[in-house]
Amino acid sequence: MCGIVAYIGNRPCHRLLIEGLKRLEYRGYDSAGIALLEPDGSGKGRIDVRKTIGRVAALTEVAKDKASSGSTLGIAHTRWATHGGVTDVNAHPHVDDTGTICLIHNGIIENYDVLKKYLIEHGRKFHTETDSEVLANLIAHLYEGDLERAVQSALREVTGAYSIAVMCVDEPDTLVCARKGSPLIVGIGSGEYIVASDGSAIVAHTAQAMTLEDYTVVRLSRDGFRTSTLDNVELTPKVMQLELELDEIELGSYEHYMLKEIYEQPDALRTCMRGRLDKNEGRVVLGGLKSFEQELVRSRRIIIAAQGTALHAGMIGEYLFEDLAKIPVEVEYASELRYRNPIIEERTVAIAVSQSGETADTLAALHEARDRGALTLGVVNVVGSTISRDTHAGVYLRVGPEIGVASTKAFTGQVAVLTMLSLWLARRRFMSTPAVQRIIEEFERIPDQIDATLKLDEQIKDITAKYIERENWLFLGRGYNYPTAMEGALKLKEISYIHAEGMPAAEMKHGPIALIDNGMPCVFIATQGAQYEKVVSNIEEVRSRGGHIIAVATEGDERIKSIAEDVIFIPDVAEPLSPLVAVVPLQLMAYHAAVLRGHDVDKPRNLAKSVTVE
Ligand code: F6R
Repeated sequence: MCGIVAYIGNRPCHRLLIEGLKRLEYRGYDSAGIALLEPDGSGKGRIDVRKTIGRVAALTEVAKDKASSGSTLGIAHTRWATHGGVTDVNAHPHVDDTGTICLIHNGIIENYDVLKKYLIEHGRKFHTETDSEVLANLIAHLYEGDLERAVQSALREVTGAYSIAVMCVDEPDTLVCARKGSPLIVGIGSGEYIVASDGSAIVAHTAQAMTLEDYTVVRLSRDGFRTSTLDNVELTPKVMQLELELDEIELGSYEHYMLKEIYEQPDALRTCMRGRLDKNEGRVVLGGLKSFEQELVRSRRIIIAAQGTALHAGMIGEYLFEDLAKIPVEVEYASELRYRNPIIEERTVAIAVSQSGETADTLAALHEARDRGALTLGVVNVVGSTISRDTHAGVYLRVGPEIGVASTKAFTGQVAVLTMLSLWLARRRFMSTPAVQRIIEEFERIPDQIDATLKLDEQIKDITAKYIERENWLFLGRGYNYPTAMEGALKLKEISYIHAEGMPAAEMKHGPIALIDNGMPCVFIATQGAQYEKVVSNIEEVRSRGGHIIAVATEGDERIKSIAEDVIFIPDVAEPLSPLVAVVPLQLMAYHAAVLRGHDVDKPRNLAKSVTVE
């Protein structure tokens, strides 16, 4: 939920830390801070902390006199508040009340109140409302001249989730980091280490990195590192190459990451499909499922758990699995599934859909299903993320890093992977080779069809501008277009702050129709498909009550044109694949609405990219 970056090495690190924070700012952006450990000439260090509410740009200003500091050890943080309001003092880094220990923390210390009470009884004083300050004091309380041991001891007392980086004034050559449940990567340079919540803050400096398992502590010095468990048992870390190119995380000529990512969708999907579709043989090849092929083919039921946009992708997955592979599916908010005492019968497969692979509720639902005997699959973008590691098997999206907080290319990537998964299963259960071949042929055309849809950008912007003053919008669709409508509404509300509701077009009559007044924008996803006629009737119902129809329709559909105020014509796509194209105009509409209203598209208020807390 927050972004952390830390450095120990041989070069002054102020700039590197600030640059790293800018890369991680999408993870949380209500406040930011930096601490440098500067040698005090006596073999010890002095800690200088700067922090402020607001963005990294504000921090740069607050810490600008430190830009020339020679410090080669430092930690920095960008926050998305969980405990304690958005204030300067609650921002990280946090220092214990004796000024010995300084840390940054991502996650939640669930038993912080018990620990705080204990520490107060032992004379500690607190100056913030955060759980992180409690952890800094706990480490300081247990410190007996060895920072690594003190961190291990403190974390043994902690329940909750954390990734932390810790410095100590008495050990100016040591940086100690640890993780449980929140991501942390250690970049390995030459004589230096860059620690960060994700590879984007590291890749400019080194491609070699180690990922840490839960409950791992790493002590870094300029001469090397040591990894250990909380009980101080030495571990051998996994070293890997970061598969991230700098241009993947740079804005380039785009004004916003969201727009860049919308435009990247054709190529992202080509990469997602590459090597996985064999049209000649009518086969889908998904290497990540190999070891569990028998169990998957014999499965009787699928549960899909996800949140937000990923849930909408999962809802499309429900249609796909039932349509193509003829297997019953339930889609559920992971946050509900995890507490619902769900019935997991034999031969149930639970699929967690997640861009980040770190969403706390999705992870917990997955564990719940796994503990009750389900075979678990991950449909995840971030390689090596917790969900990808905690599932039996899975399929990566391969759509590249998504930085804009509003999810776009991950959504189409999730739908594409669920399409391949359902075809993979269908082929092994009922579907004939020619039927699979036909779908693959259509599927391979999707990236070009998205390209064609992106060319409508100016028209979509003009349509959006017409309705930009309206505060309430409806998004309506049926069948495959129903989850697409839900996704359109979510996109609009989360970045433009316009109230929008998405629902099945037929549901409107059961209440929401009362909302329709003169000129209310009602976006219908009205492409050709099994329920086309019924959608046309729903459009008439809205029209007769004064609603303004904006339709996403199939190219050449004169009938829709004659009954809608505005039509966005998209290419003719086979119905099960239509969400992949139909969602694109809705993404662009949301984007333009946010820009027209003057909002920060990539960092909408109150949000953060990955929700690693309940
Ligand atoms: C909306 C959005 C969120 C995420 C949700 C799940 O644009 O991005 O609704 O889809 O928080 O996140 P992941 O996919 O990382 O599990």
